[in-house]
Amino acid sequence: MTVPADPSRDLRTALAHRLTAPGDPWRAAFETVPRHVFVPSFHEQAEDGRWVTITPENPRYWEAVYSDRALTTQIADGTPTSSSSQPSLMLEMLHALDMADGHRVLEVGTGTGYNAALLSHRLGDSRVTTMDVDPDLTGAATRRLGEAGHHPAVRVGDGAYGVPDRAPYDRIIATCGLPSVPWPWVEQACEGAVIVVPIGWGVARLTIHGDAAEGAFLPGGAYFMPRRADAPAPDFAGLERTEPRPSRTATPVDALRHLEFPLSLTMPGYRFCTWNREDDGTVEGLGLWTPDGSIARVHADGTVRQAGPRRLWEAVEELHRWFPDTAPARDSFGITVTSGRQWVWLGDPRGPGWDLPPVSGTGGRVR
Ligand SMILES: C[S@@+](CC[C@H](N)C(=O)[O-])C[C@H]1O[C@@H](n2cnc3c(N)ncnc32)[C@H](O)[C@@H]1O
Repeated sequence: MTVPADPSRDLRTALAHRLTAPGDPWRAAFETVPRHVFVPSFHEQAEDGRWVTITPENPRYWEAVYSDRALTTQIADGTPTSSSSQPSLMLEMLHALDMADGHRVLEVGTGTGYNAALLSHRLGDSRVTTMDVDPDLTGAATRRLGEAGHHPAVRVGDGAYGVPDRAPYDRIIATCGLPSVPWPWVEQACEGAVIVVPIGWGVARLTIHGDAAEGAFLPGGAYFMPRRADAPAPDFAGLERTEPRPSRTATPVDALRHLEFPLSLTMPGYRFCTWNREDDGTVEGLGLWTPDGSIARVHADGTVRQAGPRRLWEAVEELHRWFPDTAPARDSFGITVTSGRQWVWLGDPRGPGWDLPPVSGTGGRVR
């Protein structure tokens, strides 16, 4: 039997052709860069909640690595902390960057290094800088990038600060979720530069003009892992010591569902859970919490209890007044970033909107 020199070649070609049309500037990169080198194994959650590691010996490995699937590549305390993003979403974000030869790019969220390899293939190693907060990941990514023949600058650190000594950048792309745009990125970007960044459960595309950045959200949803920060576990039992009040929103679960995207902008990093009756699954209560330690619980009888720095249910009620039945599409929202303030708007930068919180620890220039 003749063993093919490169068993992934046909799989790469099939994936590239499934994702891209002929003439797409990213087709050659997807055809050439071997995803399996960057994802030597991944983790899948079984029905009982346990994580199972899938390696190349498993027949499903090759099919999964060259399919249009996000793959979890790192888990800490049962929670995914890094992944190789869904290739079609990566491509959508690369298209949004509108890259040209000669551009210098910063990627925040190296993860496996696969996206950095695609960028290096397109632009050349010397024009690519990638960084991740996790030194284990940057170490492995550097090795795998080298194995695939790429040598971009790989840095360890909190991507919210950017990499000033490699600036200025024509393009900045983040592959972890942020509550707003870190001001250092605007300072490190050239005039006319493009920033593509997941904010809330969407991806914003901003252009730099003067000392501000502005742009709209892409139409599709995106659920990226949030920028790593220490978030306290929610203490729902402690809420019983707080004073209850009636909810002004009659249908809390429906409100959370249809307000998902705007809520992800007003309450960055929010999570929610429900408590359901064992016999018929009826929702008996729901809990809501954010990384700053704010927490709310709404009981089936319509009472609300809240604690922490922010009254989260007030934020839900306010948005529910704005959008009682359905929320506008993602791409009707936009975002403007200046040195003193940044805000999300609906339809027009001067239209209705709300301020975004700063990315903590980035110098406080964005309030
Ligand atoms: C979805 S993964 C990135 C996927 C990656 N682009 C790839 O091609 O494999 C998100 C990454 O963001 C990283 N991350 C989280 N917080 C970060 C931070 N503050 N600065 C830089 N990277 C961060 C995580 O460690 C994780 O590897």
